[in-house]
Amino acid sequence: MKKTNWLPATAIVSTDIALIKYWGKKDPILRLPENGSISLKLKGLTTTTTVKFDPNLKNDVVVVDEKIQDPDSRTFKRVTKHLDRIRKIADFSIFAEVNSTNLFPKGTGLSSSGSGMAALTLAGCKAAGLNLSERKLSILARQASGTACRCVCGGFVEWKDGEKSEDSYSESIYPASHWDIRDVVAVISEGEKTISSTEGHALAGSSPLFEGRQKHINNKIKKIKKHIDNKDFIAFGELVEAEALEFHSILLTSTPPLIFWLPGTVAVMHEVRKLRSEGILCYFTLNTGFNIHVLTLPEYQNQVAKRIRATEGVKSILLASVDGKPEIKG
Ligand code: PMV
Repeated sequence: MKKTNWLPATAIVSTDIALIKYWGKKDPILRLPENGSISLKLKGLTTTTTVKFDPNLKNDVVVVDEKIQDPDSRTFKRVTKHLDRIRKIADFSIFAEVNSTNLFPKGTGLSSSGSGMAALTLAGCKAAGLNLSERKLSILARQASGTACRCVCGGFVEWKDGEKSEDSYSESIYPASHWDIRDVVAVISEGEKTISSTEGHALAGSSPLFEGRQKHINNKIKKIKKHIDNKDFIAFGELVEAEALEFHSILLTSTPPLIFWLPGTVAVMHEVRKLRSEGILCYFTLNTGFNIHVLTLPEYQNQVAKRIRATEGVKSILLASVDGKPEIKG
């Protein structure tokens, strides 16, 4: 039956922080990653997106953080391309108005494209009248942004690399209630990074260290799952921090080299080590950007937040805990 009622739908989706990172694509068109990854969803770092298909529109309209996106901009093109995927599944060609707001700085290494593209997938499918399974939504979201394929899920999430589109999707491996981990995010700059992750992924193989990483990445995934299962925070944190440094070693040794850290980023790394030497358990991790996450336990969060906030080069902090599934309304 042809759809005639075009009601808006809204999705509220938190971003995630990768504990074992996705880096490099074995199929850039389908966005099949070189390796699997594990993340946790971050309550408080959300994107809210409303999609409304409207038969009166002559083209798509995309508004992000109250700014109308120019049709020539990268964001507009990425959003329309994804709407086209949704329209193709729903079998109609009506244009849409998309309105998206981030509760955290966009394009600064905090994976706003993950929550953004996941929110677009969830709100877009709902507004199009599609009722897809979480797996299908994850596969669809993956085609817009790798991280988005994890962000449609809740809690502690695993993305299996897969060999073809249908088997590269994410699943929750533990709900948010499994383990109360806290994140103190140090915002070093709100200025957008100059190199996108998409450009970075293409350079992964140029690092002489990349091959070595691929040899032990599955073992790292096994280990992190065991530490999450046992709630062993020290083993978990040591592995997460080592993984972040290995990932940045790949970036630093790519051609051309990718250097994202700012002085404030490095100052936070040193402060984290100092906090640990004082018995305050916390570990850092970061993606492609200068802003840096400090993972800790509830009993240490206040102290960690106070010290990180006071670290030179830190503009502000954001606090997060592990989030559950996205919320969809409409
Ligand atoms: O989803 P993308 O293309 O923005 O890539 C994200 C890659 C990392 O954030 C560096 C790691 C990850 O797994 O989130």
